[in-house]
Amino acid sequence: MPRQLFVTTALPYANAGFHIGHMMEYIQADTWVRFQRMQGVSVDFVCADDTHGAPIMIAAEKAGKTPQQFVADIAAGRKQYLDGFQISFDNWHSTDAPENHDLARQIYRDLRDRADGSLIEVRSVEQFFDPEKNMFLPDRYIKGECPKCHSKDQYGDNCEVCGSVYSPTDLINPFSVLSGAKPELKSSEHFFFKLSDPRCVEFLEKWTQDGKLQPEVANKIKEWFSVRTNPDGSKSEGLGDWDISRDAPYFGIEIPDAPGKYFYVWLDAPVGYLASLKNLLTKRAALEGRSPDFDAYMANPELEQYHFIGKDIVTFHTLFWPAMLKFSGRKTPDNVFVHGFLTVNNGEKMSKSRGTGLNPLKYLSLGMNPEWLRYYLAAKLSARNEDIDFNADDFMARVNSDLIGKYVNIASRAAGFLTKRFDGKLTSDFGAAGSALLADVRGAGDAIAQMYESREFGKATREIMLLADKVNAYVDQNKPWDLAKDVTHNQALHQVCSVLINTFAVLTRYLAPVLPGLASAVQGFVGSDMTRWQVAGDVQAITPYQHLMQRVTPEQLDALFEPKEPLALVESAQEATELIANIPGGEAIAPVVTIDDFAKIDLRIAKIVNCEAVEGSTKLLRLTLDAGEGSDSQGQPILRNVFSGIASMYKPEDLVGQLTVLVANLAPRKMKFGISEGMVLAASHADGKAQPGIYILNPWPGAQPGMRIG
Ligand code: 2FM
Ligand code: ZN
Repeated sequence: MPRQLFVTTALPYANAGFHIGHMMEYIQADTWVRFQRMQGVSVDFVCADDTHGAPIMIAAEKAGKTPQQFVADIAAGRKQYLDGFQISFDNWHSTDAPENHDLARQIYRDLRDRADGSLIEVRSVEQFFDPEKNMFLPDRYIKGECPKCHSKDQYGDNCEVCGSVYSPTDLINPFSVLSGAKPELKSSEHFFFKLSDPRCVEFLEKWTQDGKLQPEVANKIKEWFSVRTNPDGSKSEGLGDWDISRDAPYFGIEIPDAPGKYFYVWLDAPVGYLASLKNLLTKRAALEGRSPDFDAYMANPELEQYHFIGKDIVTFHTLFWPAMLKFSGRKTPDNVFVHGFLTVNNGEKMSKSRGTGLNPLKYLSLGMNPEWLRYYLAAKLSARNEDIDFNADDFMARVNSDLIGKYVNIASRAAGFLTKRFDGKLTSDFGAAGSALLADVRGAGDAIAQMYESREFGKATREIMLLADKVNAYVDQNKPWDLAKDVTHNQALHQVCSVLINTFAVLTRYLAPVLPGLASAVQGFVGSDMTRWQVAGDVQAITPYQHLMQRVTPEQLDALFEPKEPLALVESAQEATELIANIPGGEAIAPVVTIDDFAKIDLRIAKIVNCEAVEGSTKLLRLTLDAGEGSDSQGQPILRNVFSGIASMYKPEDLVGQLTVLVANLAPRKMKFGISEGMVLAASHADGKAQPGIYILNPWPGAQPGMRIG
């Protein structure tokens, strides 16, 4: 029986397109899966959208959609990325699908109703509540002044200025990021998964420390079990219980026998792995006219289950998820493969929300070959949980010098002679040196396979390039271009070119997990199976050579990377205006513009969620604006910082909660006090000295943040 693998990547939040960090994980997992399939291993490789939670609910509301519509629209955008980068998922599903509702509820019931004592407990929890929005606020939706360093506008869980960690109730002057309202403390019943139960602790200590996890991951986890004193004097308690419920309104799965209570998104998210698999098996069974076999599939003792994830979600996958599975009587994962973050060019962390810099769709739209990126990332990836850097110069060097210069060129150097002089036919007489070289290249197969198996893709590509170096040294020794000058050397030319095409075919097979498109083109060219790792026999003949891969150009890379800080220069003093005394407002109407000119300016309704004085300025107020731009995957609303010269007219607290008009596409301006990301509209007389009033615009009721004005 071949091995049977069930492989997943982390389920992305259904609130935005993919950034390059998602693509890295998918490429890593896809490369491994393709390698396994080449070995004859049976793999089911699935993913899904992670659809639930407060941030998505709020983003949907802002977009004027139901959460279901919102996540469906996001889901519709997935294919272009996955096809574009050749990710071979067998299924893409959703955590809001019926399979997931059923499975999550069943797992919960199994945990709750255990014969040896329930692992679910209900406790009363005090939490901040937004009286305007009528909902409990997640920590990230509460801001205020840091109790330690008194920095303003800090989140409810930690201060980004001094780094201290506290609970939202410690904040000075807390406000709801959603409404600006002052939150109230309210208590509510929450459901907990008793991770601190000795049964869980004992199981998890074993599961995480039995040697399967990456050593650096296992070591980090070890700390979470110990009761200890931290460097700052605080005590760590060991494993704490896990709060798995949220109160309505919440977009999620309702908890059985608990109306108005929903599973916290992280409870049902990993269940989505199983739901997607179940959905795949159901569809497959229907196609084959069988009844679905999910339970039997999972009960197979030979089944191996692997999750590829990023280092930021290790707790969920190495504590909560295995414990949920174990104590609901299910199969636990065989391993969790953790990768680091991808940084771009300068080591700047690719944040989940601001994953710009290297936009995957822009990459494709520039006509850049997806396999360049697959190759480049493979060359950088190891089995370790470490960050890797995308560096544009390095990218160009590896693609042009290694991939094309060393490997692709082997084929182009040999193919022309074979087609023109030998009718495309190869000889199996390779000569002593040629046979030795071919044996060398073939002999490396097992070692390279082991590197792929252990996810040491960087080592594998290095090894393959070393083999390509040997092949190129053989080319330089035998100089086919010289042999071709003299027909008496025909046999030698035939030999050398046949050796080159055969080594090229083997190298292509070694690279096929990384370069599936190229491998399939080569399969057409050499007529030899590129979908299996071990192929006996030599290449017999080739079809005329077609260009296999272009080089990457500096122009493409320039276009790919937007300027690092697209900051406009601070404008010079306003142009002098001809004052016409008897015209209201003190200035003449500006020259006529077309509707197209006007349409260039994107005016949006924005809510002032915070406002404060600017230290060192008597003119400016600092506004924090919500222009309906949604929230990021951390549940953090996307807000704008805008400075406005209205301090003489308004008290900050009077503006908080008001709607106004934002020039949303104005280039950011670097000011003495920070970056201003737009401008709010305000009316004033041209002669500000004589008539100093300045009046901020305020829309009629009904207008919502994010609505465009025009
Ligand atoms: O961190 C994230 O992007 C989560 N959406 C990952 C979920 S992985 C799994 F548990 F669903
Ligand atoms: Zn602080």
